[in-house]
Amino acid sequence: MKITIGSDHGAVDLKEVVKKVLAEFDGVEVKDVGTFGTNAVDYPDIAEKVCADVVSGAADRGIVLCGTGIGISIAANKIHGIRCALCHDEYSAQMSREHNDSNVLAMGGRVIGFGVASKIVRAWMTTDFAGGRHERRVNKIMALENK
Ligand code: RB5
Repeated sequence: MKITIGSDHGAVDLKEVVKKVLAEFDGVEVKDVGTFGTNAVDYPDIAEKVCADVVSGAADRGIVLCGTGIGISIAANKIHGIRCALCHDEYSAQMSREHNDSNVLAMGGRVIGFGVASKIVRAWMTTDFAGGRHERRVNKIMALENK
């Protein structure tokens, strides 16, 4: 699986933690689109880079991080084809895959600890979409893009 990851300056440390967790999984390739330092950058630019890979198919899924996770998740969800889930607990991460088929995970580097974030990533990486009635609902979400 190919994962593209990016963060603004509010979550550069969390991005390194997430990359270490992703390295636990065999066959996972990670592309990091930055940012790489503490200089302030604009989170919509990072969301756009990560989501471009998901929409084009260059990545199977994406992970976006900022201080709260809010701004970057809002930005990601403006992009057609993206279902970005802002998760700060393991259960939500699992459900975002099982029920919502989330293709982008968002978290806030100033909101959660590294331990919780690691559990969230593991849950999100290992949970499949359940399909069935959830597929109908996800299709309705995606149809909203054309209304
Ligand atoms: C940057 O200071 C901060 O606004 C950003 O990381 C994020 O929290 C926005 O939602």
